[in-house]
Amino acid sequence: MKTRITEMFGIEHPIIQGGMHFVGFAELAAAVSNAGGLGTITGLTQRTAGDLANEIAKCNDLTDKPFAVNLTFLPSLTAPDYPAYIKSIVEGGVKIVETAGRNPAEVMPHLHDAGIKVIHKCTSVRHALKAQAIGCDAVSVDGFECGGHPGEDDIPNMILLPRAADELEIPFVSSGGQADGRSLVASLAMGAEGMNMGTRFIATQEAPVHQNVKDAIVAASELDTRLVMRPLRNTERVMVNDAVEELLRKEKELGDKLKFEDIIEQVAGVYPRIMLEGDMDAGAWSCGMVCGLINDIPTCDELISRIMTEADTIIRQRLAGMMAA
Ligand SMILES: Cc1cc2nc3c(=O)[nH]c(=O)nc-3n(C[C@H](O)[C@H](O)[C@H](O)COP(=O)(O)O)c2cc1C
Repeated sequence: MKTRITEMFGIEHPIIQGGMHFVGFAELAAAVSNAGGLGTITGLTQRTAGDLANEIAKCNDLTDKPFAVNLTFLPSLTAPDYPAYIKSIVEGGVKIVETAGRNPAEVMPHLHDAGIKVIHKCTSVRHALKAQAIGCDAVSVDGFECGGHPGEDDIPNMILLPRAADELEIPFVSSGGQADGRSLVASLAMGAEGMNMGTRFIATQEAPVHQNVKDAIVAASELDTRLVMRPLRNTERVMVNDAVEELLRKEKELGDKLKFEDIIEQVAGVYPRIMLEGDMDAGAWSCGMVCGLINDIPTCDELISRIMTEADTIIRQRLAGMMAA
């Protein structure tokens, strides 16, 4: 399939694996890219810029296809050394960066000077327009159903994607709730040039996370995610578990007096315990409503091939058949 996104990134299929904390390691990024999609290493999962350089080198050993690095800009007391991370990205020969969090205006010149294309992930039309205005090459439009941070506007993709299509000139991909060939065709119909998936790629053979995480996603239904940290305006969609129930109890009890310190035990530093050790009640971990559509743990190649075959069948048979009638 050829879209503005496949052309821009030099990939075969318009399918992107979004950056995911403690999931987006070289093994997964390379597997997605080798399957013809665009894999992404999560920059800040690497503790230092040197560690990121090593992870990029590892990915370069595992694939000769393009892959991306995610740079997430979060509010934090001690900001990561972004210039050093960018140096590792540039020196590693990476040609695509996925940015997220606040808009990446500050880093745009460094990335563009190095010939790097920037796809900014955002959750509203106004943020997408801002990304376009500061020179981003593409955007990933993350709807309310997404795993991770859906923002505070709560607009699902059925509305958000056509709204983005009406306003944007740069190409965009859908993100949030995407799982299969139906998702891809629907995204294309609503004006996107491809789709970005997070949760679906965790339940793959190559995702280097504990089997318990994959099994939890397969077992979950679309009713099993919760929104946490809304009172802090840092809303995150996570898989429900004991820690999340406790967190929500505290949110309810403290109301607008809630501070980050009150829930630190449930949210800070929990990812290694969940993703690497499989301790599924250790804390809150991002997961999309799309877990209700995930019933197996294929390889990335099986998953992407299946999506493309399904999309082809829907377009050429189901939809074309309707038009012919
Ligand atoms: C476990 C997990 C961790 C994530 N970590 C990040 C991250 O560090 N930075 C980021 O920009 N997005 C992160 N995301 C969001 C994904 O890149 C993607 O936008 C989102 O998962 C799309 O929604 P979906 O899960 O419904 O496919 C994460 C998502 C998940 C599920």
